[in-house]
Formats: sequence, structure tokens, C-alpha cells
Amino acid sequence: MSALPTSPFAAHVGKHPGEPNVMDPALLTDPFAGYGALREQGPVVRGRFMDDSPVWLVTRFEEVRQVLRDQRFVNNPAAPALGHAAEDNPLTRLTDMLGLPEHLRPYLLGSILNYDAPDHTRLRRLVSRAFTARKITDLRPRVEQIADALLARLPEHAEDGVVDLIQHFAYPLPITVICELVGIPEADRPQWRKWGADLISMEPDRLGTSFPPMIEHIHQLVRERRGALTDDLLSELIRTHDDDGGRLSDVEMVTMILTLVLAGHETTAHLISNGTAALLTHPDQLRLLQDDPALLPRAVHELMRWCGPVQMTQLRYAATDVDLAGTTIRRGDAVQLILVSANFDPRHYTDPDRLDLTRHPAGRAENHVGFGHGAHYCLGATLAKQEGEVAFGKLLAHYPKMTLGVAPERLERTPLPGNWRLAALPVRLG
Ligand code: HEM
Repeated sequence: MSALPTSPFAAHVGKHPGEPNVMDPALLTDPFAGYGALREQGPVVRGRFMDDSPVWLVTRFEEVRQVLRDQRFVNNPAAPALGHAAEDNPLTRLTDMLGLPEHLRPYLLGSILNYDAPDHTRLRRLVSRAFTARKITDLRPRVEQIADALLARLPEHAEDGVVDLIQHFAYPLPITVICELVGIPEADRPQWRKWGADLISMEPDRLGTSFPPMIEHIHQLVRERRGALTDDLLSELIRTHDDDGGRLSDVEMVTMILTLVLAGHETTAHLISNGTAALLTHPDQLRLLQDDPALLPRAVHELMRWCGPVQMTQLRYAATDVDLAGTTIRRGDAVQLILVSANFDPRHYTDPDRLDLTRHPAGRAENHVGFGHGAHYCLGATLAKQEGEVAFGKLLAHYPKMTLGVAPERLERTPLPGNWRLAALPVRLG
């Protein structure tokens, strides 16, 4: 497997010996080994980001959590505190590389992930009401219903007895759930799936082709829904926006819809597929779960740690000089939190390489950073965990004899920086 062949970022790999680029094939092919080696080099390692700009890679559990809690690190790449000239701020450089037209740039900057307090707090409060534990629990029967319906139809998709579980279960489940929650019409969902894939590819051509119609589509959706508000999240955001209080701008509303739909399915789909592959290749753990379905919540914690789909957070920037584990991070420097190495840090876990569904004590908060940490901790974590529990539980109940459809070493990964995902998950339903 090589670095993304069509990506202009790949050209930078290897330009700075000793400073690994996140596009490095060694990191893309096996991030666990690659970032694991960096973790043992030190808690803070010099690296390169996609456009070849320097970045500090933070590799160990404690230091990753420390930075994510530390308000001296900010998310907004254009924050004046960083001291960057406007034309040289990191976001401008990245959007230049991606070739995004000027009028669309605010939609990238408008993401909640690029906000810091107090704006971040304002925005997060507006949407977190839709994601309370209570609301998510109320959704569970519907999630189960969707899972049951998809699983019942799996045999129809079999070719020579083999079904791609990503295509027919791991994607459709979370995209249906998040689209119903937000209020995206059913007919539009296949289009969203394609847009999501294009955006996450980080290939300028695909991104440049899909981003403009996607933004226009959301504006259109908002115009239509405004005439017939319901109780979905889209209607709630429109009400908040139109409330006159200036609590939510146009760009913020559109970007929030985009973020929720994409973050809501592009990640969860790969928790389901990575987790299923992990269970099918660890028969002892699979049996534990089959014998005791009450283990599901703890199993999801461990699968998130062991094969979570997000390898690293969004970049953070030092708003002032900071000493981090003996390294001076200068004001304006970019920092990347490597979740995948933190989740295997032997300073924090006993025998970290072992998949152990009983590792996390019952009833305790999760003990991993797969959903991030601190102010930007994943807004959809409760929903994602519930979808994981339903997906694994229902899959094992419907198809207890399911096996991999290819030899484990033939499972292909998509070499995407920052993401850990299979290209397909062929299974035999048994
Ligand atoms: C933030 C992972 C599912 C919405 C994050 C972050 C991570 C993450 C690591 C923090 C990024 C950072 O600090 O830079 C995941 C994983 C998921 C998942 C692994 C599935 C297994 C979801 C779902 C939703 C969602 C289902 C929506 C319903 C968000 C949003 C943020 C976020 C809106 C930004 C929060 C903020 O900036 O305050 N996610 N996520 N995620 N996630 Fe998730």
C-alpha cells in the first residue's frame, strides 16, 4: 500500500528525514506500529503535516489528555493570539492547497471544531440539547429497528455466500440514524454518502467537486424546511437561527448540519466494521460476548480503544509558549494529538496490544481517548456507543455463526491519514 497516489500531499513525504509526515506510507499502512514507534521515541516528537508544515506530534496518553484540557492550546487556526499573518495562517495554507474558492472558506472555518471559548461554548450548548443521554436512550428502539431491518436483508446481498458488511450494514445504520435525527430526506442520503467519502478523502479534486454542491444543497434544505418546521434537529437549528438573538449565524447553521451528518456516520460506520473484524479474528473474545451480552458496553469501550476509527484529533495551536514534557512549544506552533498511540501507551495500560473486552470495569467512564477529551470531546459519543452496542449485539444475535469471508491478512485498509478503516468487510453469514 502506498500513500494516497492522487494526493499532492504525498509529494512531501520524506523531505525532512527524522520528521515523519502524516502521509508517510509507514504511518498509513500500519499506524499502530508507526505511531507506536514514535511514542517510544518521546512524548512530543517533531513531524510534518500534510502540506509539509511542521507539527509537534504528541504520542502518550497523559500528555495527549493534558493538551486537550489546556486552554493555552486553541483550535481556531486563524486566532489572532497565534501571531500568524492572515495570508500565512495554517487554514489559509491548507485551503489554498485544496483549491477551495474564496466564498466557501467560511464554511470550513465555521465548524465547531475550529471554535474556541466563548464561541465554542455557545455553539456547543445550542446542539448538545439534542444529544443528552436521555434523548439518546429514547432513540434506542429506533436504532434497533433499523439494525434489524438491515440485518434481515443481508442474505439478499450475498454473492457466492459473501456479503460486504460495510456496504450493507456498517454504513447504512449510522447514516440512517443521523439523517433521521437531523431531518435529511431519505432520497438525499445516497448523495450525502458520496459527499462524505469525497470530503474525507482529502483529495483536492474530489473535495473541490463535492463541497460546493453540498453547501448549496444544505442552504436549499434550510429554505424548504423553513416553510414546514418539524421536531427534527434541522428545524430546531432554523428556529434558533431565526430567533433574532444572533445566537447562530447562517454559516454556523449550515456548517453544523454538515458536521453532524458527516461526523455522525463516517466515523461510526468504521467503529462497527473495525470492531466486527476484531471480534471475528479474536474467537475467544467473540465467545465472551456471545456468552454474556451484558458485556456489550464494556466491549464497545475496548473496541474503541483497540480499533477506534479516528487516529488523531484536529490540529491545536499554542496561543503562547508552552513547556510540554520538557519540549518548548512556541506560540503559533501546531500540535497533533495522536489518539491511536495514546490508546496503546504501555505507561497507561497493562498489555496494551491485547484485545480484552473485560479490560474496562463495569459502570466506569471510558478509559481511552478515541473520542478525544476536554472541551471538544465528541458530541456524538453517547450516540456512537449506543449504535456500536446495538450493531454488535444484533449482528451476533442474527448471525451467531458469521465468519470472515476472506483470510484476515487479505482484509484491505483504506490508507487515509487520521482514519483507520477497512475498504470492505466480506463476511459469510453462516
Ligand atoms: C468531535 C471521534 C461519532 C459529532 C470528535 C472528536 C473525536 C471524535 C476524536 C474530537 C476531535 C478533536 O478534539 O479534534 C468520533 C468517533 C465516533 C464519533 C470515533 C464514532 C465511533 C460521532 C457522532 C456524531 C459526532 C455519531 C454526531 C452525532 C462530533 C462533533 C464533534 C466531534 C460535532 C465536535 C465537538 C466539538 O468541537 O465540541 N469526535 N466521533 N461524532 N464529534 Fe465525534
